[in-house]
Amino acid sequence: MASTSAALKLLAQENTLSELFVRGEDERPKVAHNAFRDDIPVISLAGIDVSAERRSEIREKIAEASEEWGLFQVIDHGIDPDLISKMTRLSQDFFSLPDDEKLRFDMSGGKKGGFIISSHLQGEAVMHWRELVTFFSYPIGARDYSRWPDKPEGWKAVTEAYSENVIGLARKILELLSEAMGLEKDAIAKACLEMDQKIVVNFYPKCPQPDLTLGIKKHTDPDTITVLVQDQVGGLQVTKDGGKTWITVRPVKGALVVNIGDHVHYLSNGRFKSALHRAVVNSDSSRLSIATFQNPAPEAIVYPLINSNIREGEEKPLLEEPITFAEMYKRIFRRGLKLGEGKPQNQ
Ligand code: SIN
Ligand code: FE2
Repeated sequence: MASTSAALKLLAQENTLSELFVRGEDERPKVAHNAFRDDIPVISLAGIDVSAERRSEIREKIAEASEEWGLFQVIDHGIDPDLISKMTRLSQDFFSLPDDEKLRFDMSGGKKGGFIISSHLQGEAVMHWRELVTFFSYPIGARDYSRWPDKPEGWKAVTEAYSENVIGLARKILELLSEAMGLEKDAIAKACLEMDQKIVVNFYPKCPQPDLTLGIKKHTDPDTITVLVQDQVGGLQVTKDGGKTWITVRPVKGALVVNIGDHVHYLSNGRFKSALHRAVVNSDSSRLSIATFQNPAPEAIVYPLINSNIREGEEKPLLEEPITFAEMYKRIFRRGLKLGEGKPQNQ
């Protein structure tokens, strides 16, 4: 267990949250980290390559969940549970290191990848109650191992294996989503030009006043698709009504949470939602989650691959003109919808 945490040192007094973390009334969480609900589909991928019938059954469930929530959990996904637990354990061990060890990878000051204490992020009106370590894992040639933690022992090999497995799973799900749009299975992959990948390991320390703050405020992921593993504590919440009602996703052992990013939202012309989600914290235990973001190449052109927006019955494309992913990213942050309000350095 991580006993010391740099973020916790920001407490003005014991059991009182520093005002740096206090959210406005309307943003404060009203639904607890463990008020689990089972609305979010848990989909088994068993037999996906065995028969066309089974594949289409799975495809339908994934398409439906992506239309309704933009988020679902997958089980029987083919990634060795042992690899997932190793990845989780090593991540926990990283955050248990003394602060000065973690700060050897400090990424404040514009470095690409490394460790960050949320309170060190600049330009955020209210700080997130979290620490994170992040690094780029694909394309392999662009990996900068000097920004990957070198402790605990075994981290690099396990992370490499994990990242390869996750990108494989993400590709499979993108194939199903392409097929569900009536396209060739490689349609989304082609629209990405290449698949880039970035891992963000989130550590949310115990919080003395969890009702006043958030681990991460509401946002959609700007990427193509995110695969997330969370521990059994709970804290991931999703909404489908713009934030009126929040559902706490029940942690399922061995499951991976998949959420659709803004890129697929645009490619599908709004048919698949990009899930609006956030993370709440609690006073009983710390929480760990590992988010793996799959992104297209920055120069990939973003424009709907299909015409109709089945949910709103609109034929109009969501985007007025084809733009690059880099431009899409910029525009989203300009609308202020994202983390960091204009400083997209940690997602
Ligand atoms: C979570 O910790 O469950 C969500 C993190 C994220 O949105 O990146
Ligand atoms: Fe997210």
